[in-house]
Parts: sequence; structure tokens; C-alpha cells
Amino acid sequence: MSQAESSPSPAAWSGRFSEPVSERVKRYTASIPFDWRLAPFDIQGSLAHAAMLHKVGVLSDQDLADIRRGLGEILADFEAGRFTWNLDDEDIHFNIERALTKQVGDAGKRLHTGRSRNDQVATDVRLWLRDAIDRLQGLIRAARLALLDQAEAHAATVMPGFTHLQAAQPVTFGHHLMAWQEMLARDAERLADCRRRVNRLPLGAAALAGTSYPIDREFVARELGFDGVCENSLDAVSDRDFAIEFLAAGALIMTHLSRMSEELVIWMTPRFGFIDLPDRFCTGSSIMPQKKNPDVPELMRGKTGRMNGHLIALLTLMKGQPLAYNKDNQEDKEPLFDAVDTLADSLAIFAEMVPGILVRAERMRQAAVEGFATATDLADYLVKKGLPFREAHEAVARAVRAAELKGCDLADLALEELRAFSPLVAEDIYAVLTLEGSVQARNHIGGTAPDQVRAAVARVRGRLAAGR
Ligand code: ARG
Repeated sequence: MSQAESSPSPAAWSGRFSEPVSERVKRYTASIPFDWRLAPFDIQGSLAHAAMLHKVGVLSDQDLADIRRGLGEILADFEAGRFTWNLDDEDIHFNIERALTKQVGDAGKRLHTGRSRNDQVATDVRLWLRDAIDRLQGLIRAARLALLDQAEAHAATVMPGFTHLQAAQPVTFGHHLMAWQEMLARDAERLADCRRRVNRLPLGAAALAGTSYPIDREFVARELGFDGVCENSLDAVSDRDFAIEFLAAGALIMTHLSRMSEELVIWMTPRFGFIDLPDRFCTGSSIMPQKKNPDVPELMRGKTGRMNGHLIALLTLMKGQPLAYNKDNQEDKEPLFDAVDTLADSLAIFAEMVPGILVRAERMRQAAVEGFATATDLADYLVKKGLPFREAHEAVARAVRAAELKGCDLADLALEELRAFSPLVAEDIYAVLTLEGSVQARNHIGGTAPDQVRAAVARVRGRLAAGR
């Protein structure tokens, strides 16, 4: 798609005007430099509109045949990168109409009967967004599948779980990855929910009040795969809440990817050393030869900022608008387009990166040991033997201090040493103090036990296979 040499042609609405717009105003008001992306959807909408006009007797057989042929050629040109746009024709709708009329003559001029660019653009954006949502769902699915594989492989790999970024209790790496998977599962649900409201037909609202032609909106809705029609013409051409909802769902997706990226960055620092990322996702430093920087997750974290910006942009765009259509709405496109590009790139690269995560299980394990991650298990053990929890907490705190002074793990303290903190401690304590004993004990739905991680993976695999 490229820009044609400007061959000054009067604007489609020029009849009422005594002078052409200035070059600066033309550039300022045109949307064709970015809304060309809507071309295939604009054509799809026009084909359905033309079929409807023919069905209700407004277009002749010959007109419909001409329009179909012309639009087919324009679509082929667009797909082959041959379609050229002209700034004089302001937006994608006028550009396609002009090309059509050039190709098929009068039939092209009849296509716009009973519609306006206002309901046309609202329809195009919804068709485009519906397609984008479907593509993004595929990418979320791929990311979730990648997480399931890694989670299954590391269902029993122990690491410290954190609160306040301080080692808290042992968890399995698989359980941690399944937490990420849950976030993405809800993101997919949100997009599916948003899609239901995107998938309504504005066409037929015309400029704002409807049209006096005997149109059949239900027919057009069915042709275009919409679930139904927008039931108020003023609302149909003016509100962009469906786009705002999408951006809100998108901002949450990026927020989730950003949090995951942040963890990858932390785990990759040599001080943690929990994981490594393949070189293809990292870069070096121009000055420090020893550096390997996790650029990809850092950038993903950073791109969350622009997504949030797009959401705020559309909320602000909408907030002061009186009914019905206002040109302000032309500003909905660039944020939407960039949001979808950013989400698609981020999800695709995340799905590619997850299988490449190299897990350093020994480092994870060592960190859990050094963090006295099984202290809670020792307290629970004492409680089960009858000690009130507050007293158990106190006894274990003293045991941790002793282990810290000795520079060893709780499990390395001798039975006699442990009994000094509570006579309730017996030989069976060692099964509790091990990392494996600790994670295995949390064996209920939602818990970190390896068997629960495997069961969770199986449940999600089942849902994904059933298309949920
Ligand atoms: N390019 C315009 C947009 O994106 C199309 C609708 C223009 N309608 C109008 N009445 N100026 O919103």
C-alpha cells in the first residue's frame, strides 16, 4: 500500500464549499495514512451492504455484479500491495469508493446509498477488532501451552516462594508458572467477553438517525457474522466503548506480561541465578564485556507503558463527546492499531521465550534452604502436637536464630538441639523439615504439591482442548 502522486481531485463533499481546504488542513484531517489498514474490512462491509441493497430492490443485478467485480479487484490490488491511496480522498472509505467508481462507473456511485461514513467506519473498526481479538486469542493460547509444558517438566522442582521479595515458603517452579497461566486464562476470558460487545452491527444507523431506504439490517448482520445489530442509531455511530474495553483488557494482558518479565529479570541476575535465557533473547553491553542483559523481558515490561497510554487516550477521547458522531472518533485508530501490534508481538515472543527458560534447579533449591523456607512447617508440626500457634511461632523463631548463628539449615540441627526449643519435637520432624516434605504437604486444589501441579496442568489441557 503506497501513496499515489497527488492528482488534485475535488473532495467527495466539495459541492457545498466555495474553496478547497488548505494543504495543512488536508493533512491534519486525513486518516488515510493510517486507516488504510481497514481496507479488507471496509470491502467486506461494502459487499454485505451492496448485497442487502440488491435484496431490497435498491440496486439492480448489473449494479451488484459491477460492485462485486470492482471490490474484488481492489481487494486483490490491496493484498498484492498495488493499491495506492491519495491524500485528497481523506480516508480509506473515500479512497476505495473513488477507486471503485473509476473501475465500474455509476454502480460505484450507488454503493453509498442508505449509509454514511459514520456507520461505515464504526462497522469497519468492529470487524477489524473482532479479527484482531481472534488472532490474539490464538497467541494467548500458545503462551499458555508453553507454560503448561514447562510447569509439567518442573512440577517437583523446588524454589523459595516469596512475599515482600523475601523467601517465605517452598513452592514448586511448576506451581509458580501455573500462576502465570491463570493470569493468561483470565485474560482470554476477558477478551472473549469483550468480543461479544464488539460483535454488533452499526451499519444502518447511517449518519445518525437511520435511513429512509427499506434496509434489512439483520441480513447485513448475518452476512458479516455479527451476533446482532446495534439497537440505537445515535449510539451505534458514536460510542467507542467496545474499543475502550478492549484496551482495558489489553492493558491487563501487558500488566501480566510485565510482572512475569520482571520475575524473569530478577531470576536471571547472577545473584539469584535461578534461570538463564537463551542468547537469542538477550543482548550484550557495548562497554562491559561480562554483561548479558535480558532485553526482551525488560522491553516487554516497558511496553506496558504505551498500552496504558492508549487506554487513557481513548477514555479521554470519549469523555466529553455529545451524541452522535464527532470527528474526535477518528483518533481511536492509531492507539487501537498500536495496541494490537504491541500485544501480538509481546505474546508471540513470550510464547517463544518460555520453552527456552533454562532452569537452575540447584540454585533454586539452595535459595530455599538458605531462606529457612520450612520454618512454617516446623511451627505447623508443633501446633499439630498440641502447642498453641503463637507459642509455636516463638519456638521456631528461636530455632531459626540458632541455625542462622551456626550457618546451617533447620534440617541440619540435631534432634537434641531442636528439642531444646520444644520437647514436642521427635524423630519424625525431619520428614517435615525437608523441602520435598513441605511442598508435598500442601496437597489440595490450588496448593503447591507436585501432584496438584500435575493435576492443574491436566485440567487446563482439557479445557484448552475443549476450546475453552
Ligand atoms: N475517517 C473518519 C473516521 O475515522 C470516517 C468518518 C468520517 N465521518 C465524518 N462525518 N467526517 O472517523
